[in-house]
Amino acid sequence: MSRENFHKACKVSELKEGVGKRVYLDDEEIAIFKVNEEIFALSNICPHQKARKIHEGFIEDHGVICPLHGWKFDLATGNLAPDRRGLKTYPLKIENGFVFVNVIKKELSW
Ligand code: FES
Repeated sequence: MSRENFHKACKVSELKEGVGKRVYLDDEEIAIFKVNEEIFALSNICPHQKARKIHEGFIEDHGVICPLHGWKFDLATGNLAPDRRGLKTYPLKIENGFVFVNVIKKELSW
């Protein structure tokens, strides 16, 4: 079974450097960031208090900081610390000037 589930998220040109954009794709709420010309897609829901605020986060170094209480997540891995999981991240690709996000769901076991 293919694990590819790409959805068109936005135009690359809509993304402002360091400013998050919230999108809803296949029932998931996702924050997209462009930082130093690289694009990242992470869950928009902070695991601390389930706030849907990551897209309003601040960028510092290679991380995004939740605007509510300052938890900081690595943009590429979503981790809170090297060995501490934080936000789900999504693979993406750029095609014809659009960002496509691979909304991989948890495996269902039937
Ligand atoms: S809700 Fe994100 S740090 Fe508290």
